Amino acid sequence: MAILKIARMGHPVLLQRAEPVADPTAPEIRRLVADMIETMHDASGAGLAAPQVHVPLRLFVFRVAADRATGDAEDVPMPDTVVINPHIEAIGEDARLCWEGCLSIPGLRAAVPRAWRIRYTGVDTAGHPVGREVTGFHAGVVQHEYDHLDGILYPMRMRDFTLFGFTEELARAAARQGGGAA
Ligand code: NI
Repeated sequence: MAILKIARMGHPVLLQRAEPVADPTAPEIRRLVADMIETMHDASGAGLAAPQVHVPLRLFVFRVAADRATGDAEDVPMPDTVVINPHIEAIGEDARLCWEGCLSIPGLRAAVPRAWRIRYTGVDTAGHPVGREVTGFHAGVVQHEYDHLDGILYPMRMRDFTLFGFTEELARAAARQGGGAA
């Protein structure tokens, strides 16, 4: 396995529409997914999409850590998960702000409007169908990673730029307000 180089905002690969994966069970896809999972952990990320490692294909990996899950019945901790050739759709009209960072935009965080509940489908590296209805953090991270496949970065989704800042400053501001960790 290998740690892959992550493209940062400004690199054209992050703005292009990625291509479907012709054979999700191909050995090179399995290797790419293993490397992406290792890279995600190395960078302490919650998710990583293939275009972020300079591979313009429609697949992403993610995980839901116990301290990120909202505790909603459909937002529980998830181990490392891959979704290849995904489709997503919002369920209902409920949209809420999700605090997000991105490994391609290091050091910054923002509150981004996301559908609260979504359904997503796709396949894994065995070609088996993957599909869930999820809410909260799980729904947010999947929407964020899916956006990467369409060349969309989270600032393009933002409406309130006062809720955008350096992670360190936002943590300091939250501590000053006595709110503890954000
Ligand atoms: Ni990202």
